[in-house]
Amino acid sequence: MYCVKEIQKDLYWIGGNDRRLALFEGAYPIPRGVSYNSYLLLDEKTILFDTVDRAIEPLFFENLEHLLAGRKLNYVVVNHMEPDHCATLETLARRHPETTIVGNPKTMAMIRQFFTFGADARSLIVKEGDTLCTGAHTFTFLMAPMVHWPEVMVTYDTTAKTLFSADAFGTFGALGGNLFADEVNFEAEWLPDARRYYANIVGKYGTQVQALLKKAAAVDIELLCPLHGPMWRGGIDWYVGKYQLWSRYEPEEKAVMIAYASVYGDTENAVQILAADLADRGVRNIAMYDVSVTHPSVIVAEAFRCSHLIFASTTYNAGIFPAMETVLLDLKAHNLQNRTVGLLQNGSWAPTSGDLMRRCLGEMKNMTLLNEQVDIRSSVKEPQLAQLEALADAVAASVHPAAAEPDHSAAVEPNAMFALSYGLFVLTARDGAKDNGCIINTVTQLTDNPKRITIAVNKQDYTHDMIVRTGLFNVSVLTEDAPFRLFRHFGFCSGRSTDKFADFRHAARSANGVLRLSKYVNAFLSARVTASYDYGTHTLFVADVTEARVLSAAPSVTYAYYFANIKPKPQPPEGVKKGFICKICGYVYEGETLPPDFICPICKHGAADFEPLKP
Ligand code: FEO
Repeated sequence: MYCVKEIQKDLYWIGGNDRRLALFEGAYPIPRGVSYNSYLLLDEKTILFDTVDRAIEPLFFENLEHLLAGRKLNYVVVNHMEPDHCATLETLARRHPETTIVGNPKTMAMIRQFFTFGADARSLIVKEGDTLCTGAHTFTFLMAPMVHWPEVMVTYDTTAKTLFSADAFGTFGALGGNLFADEVNFEAEWLPDARRYYANIVGKYGTQVQALLKKAAAVDIELLCPLHGPMWRGGIDWYVGKYQLWSRYEPEEKAVMIAYASVYGDTENAVQILAADLADRGVRNIAMYDVSVTHPSVIVAEAFRCSHLIFASTTYNAGIFPAMETVLLDLKAHNLQNRTVGLLQNGSWAPTSGDLMRRCLGEMKNMTLLNEQVDIRSSVKEPQLAQLEALADAVAASVHPAAAEPDHSAAVEPNAMFALSYGLFVLTARDGAKDNGCIINTVTQLTDNPKRITIAVNKQDYTHDMIVRTGLFNVSVLTEDAPFRLFRHFGFCSGRSTDKFADFRHAARSANGVLRLSKYVNAFLSARVTASYDYGTHTLFVADVTEARVLSAAPSVTYAYYFANIKPKPQPPEGVKKGFICKICGYVYEGETLPPDFICPICKHGAADFEPLKP
């Protein structure tokens, strides 16, 4: 039974869907199926715009004959000669010997290549700007070579302002009754397939798509009728905007895609660490794909969407892992440009994949290849952690370049102040080339405008002296999931004798050049000292906040939470009977009485934080 729909006065959609085809063009998975659109206008003369794929031939002819209802078919316009649209052209021509076939010279050459029905004797050859009148409607033909084949043209109905756009603006996905893009949730449910269709089918031909977009911009379009997917009667500018970006090879989003090839999971482990490092640096919505299981067409589409690409490959047969090589060659074939790229190679005895990937990507236009390459021998070991951090730093700085600029006023997120409590914080400073940090428990907001805080810092802390000298510091607000080893790392030894950041992975540099923690923190504040007050053991610093960022929604650790849930109960050393134990770090002072001005040599807390050893 026929299934047609009038989409504009006298204009009918007479296409159909295929939900059983596994691979479009034998190459691209289409789990959502595909539609083959054909349009019939019943004017004084009847005119058909393209036919359909052989898969839906019976329905197509039922639709056509139903609407013609015995009338002649005067014209068939062949906008595109690819068989997914014209496999049924010969059958149509034989069933309707009265029909004139409209196409350009290249169309006719292709018809001769595919068929034998003698199209030339019944053809109307058109060129750029030619018109055809069918009664009430007049059509103009616009050539669109290589969008997607050389013979492609589009047809503009100057009366109804309808553009029959061939493959342009098409998409994978079968139509489920709702024929118009405004009847479906296009952005959420169709855009990924529209992007995948564009990138893989016509992505290579950006220049030619640009030429078509210029022609389309010169006409007023009220209805857009592609050969695949929904029709557009509103929101056309939005969709054209996507085509503008894709065809100029400009990313749609500042986003990171990681594609990796991993034989035994070690390369995957490396990119998981890298992704976590990126997340710690504020990079959101990271997309990650295993090239062995994700179809290359998906990765190509994601590469068209994302600004930053990371490729990680094991070395295989002295080359790039085959599935990764396929992806890279696909990207090259589709002419991808203007991306920032990070690379990670793995190889157990002779790693080559990094250099080979770099060479392949280097042959593509305007690709910025980051120098911070990660080199792994079999599996991630300590030295590679620093490389992963360096690559994460470089990618994050490129994704969020503003974070590296000293424009502090623009970077103060007011919500970051809400993370402050009577809690525990890592206070960091930098003096020359030396970074250091310590634990403090007194950070308080003083004023809201300007954002101003106070911190109290023990004078014995090395960080204290660095702040006195430089006037700059960062406060990282610790969260409840912070492990005790973190407190021990920053609280129980002195930066005068230890480099606390030598092997510490979870840190990033903020705009003021000072390190701040990137894990176990929900916010950080950067501040510049405006005044300081001497309170004996401590200095109270008053400082203006120059940068403040929320990093996560995890709850801030409070002093009480730390003592109840994180800090192990101090145990006195064997054999010590009389003395006092520091509640903060467990240091034991041996003796009958504790001097009231005693300062713990480990954590620098005073006598108030000691309690008598229990017998
Ligand atoms: Fe839908 Fe290029 O064919």
